[in-house]
Amino acid sequence: MSKDSPNAMWGGRFAEGPDAIMEAINASIGFDQRLAGHDIRGSRAHAAMLAAQGIISDSDAQAIREGLLTVLSEIESGEFDFSTALEDIHMNVEARLKEIVGEPAGRLHTARSRNDQVATDFRMWVRDQLDALDGALAGLSRALLAQAEAGADWVMPGFTHLQVAQPVTWGHHLLAYVEMFARDRSRFSDARARMNECPLGAAALAGTSFPIDREMTSEALGFDRPCANSIDAVSDRDFAMEFLSAASICAVHLSRLAEELVIWSTAQFRFVEMSDRFSTGSSIMPQKRNPDAAELVRAKSGRVLGATVSLFTVMKGLPLTYSKDMQEDKEQVFDAADSLMLAIAAMEGIVRDMCANVAELEAAAAAGFSTATDLADWLVRERGMPFREAHRVTGSLVALAESKRCGLPALSMEDMASVYTDMDEGVFDVLEPKRSVASRTSLGGTAPVRVREEIARWKEVLG
Ligand code: ARG
Repeated sequence: MSKDSPNAMWGGRFAEGPDAIMEAINASIGFDQRLAGHDIRGSRAHAAMLAAQGIISDSDAQAIREGLLTVLSEIESGEFDFSTALEDIHMNVEARLKEIVGEPAGRLHTARSRNDQVATDFRMWVRDQLDALDGALAGLSRALLAQAEAGADWVMPGFTHLQVAQPVTWGHHLLAYVEMFARDRSRFSDARARMNECPLGAAALAGTSFPIDREMTSEALGFDRPCANSIDAVSDRDFAMEFLSAASICAVHLSRLAEELVIWSTAQFRFVEMSDRFSTGSSIMPQKRNPDAAELVRAKSGRVLGATVSLFTVMKGLPLTYSKDMQEDKEQVFDAADSLMLAIAAMEGIVRDMCANVAELEAAAAAGFSTATDLADWLVRERGMPFREAHRVTGSLVALAESKRCGLPALSMEDMASVYTDMDEGVFDVLEPKRSVASRTSLGGTAPVRVREEIARWKEVLG
């Protein structure tokens, strides 16, 4: 198409073609070509419906449906020549269809608008992403589960404020992430169920006077039902915002795990070693092993959150129904979906490959007076002391150990008695991290017996 002539699709009332800058700001073909498969699927369903309803002839519908398959194969093989002058994927496909099948192509857009078309394409695209993300998160969860099973009873420090709190088990800590990713999957599946309504047939905004069958296209495209309100159908981007919201929460979970792995792999912690396959070296410092993959997972969450803020901001001031602002929904969602998929895949690899340093975990579990709560609990249980009093006595014992630069188990009986006279040797048993974790058998607690039950439950769920 010549740049100076009006647009062939909508230029009837125009005398001049668009300015080059207008074309540049208006075109979405640079990114929405990713919707080609969904666009063609939607158009084929629409053509079949138009024929079934007697709106176009069967032979026109057949020519359109076959021609669209040719267009699809040209796009898939990379030979399709995308045109910026044709703005977007919808008009690129239709223009090429016209070249292939001639006049019938002009009938495809009957009882349809790009407004319901793009809403339908994009919903289908997001729906596919939700399905792919579900599978990816299941894979990551299985990798975490395998690690948890290997170390169901390895002790490590549990932290609050990143200060040693109480000993926990490695399996228990990793299962915390399995819980988070299961919630992410459930959020994705809720979003999928809510968004699975078909906008096609809403036309520009008001519906159409043609006797269309919206149930037919909805079903052909795998939707549960047509959207009930044509105005809502073309102006709604909740499905994209909900996708991004759920994606953001998932990205935050990934980022927290990534952050822990970055910390754990330092020379100061040495809790885990990442595989060569997911680490990099330094071009100047020969000793380096950098956790780049985990760092990038952490950073990708910033992109996902950014996309979310961006789309919400685009949408928040828009009057009903469609405004061209809404064309800016796609790049955000594409980028967020790509970033999240890559982050999950990388995290699965990191987790599968990583090696826990069990001796280091155990040593760290004993440091930092991690069993002070166990000592206080012993005073409550064995001496009938009120917990607040036991807390105070234990605090004094910690202060004493600190002044002697030793741990609680290294205090002598005399040291203990100097703070509280009624101690006995039994107290030393509860100062062992392994004993500590084994004692925490409350529902959801860190005891290896509980952790093994949870592993069995998750194995059932994840298969
Ligand atoms: N490329 C457009 C988009 O992505 C398609 C819809 C155009 N609709 C319109 N009324 N100009 O939003």
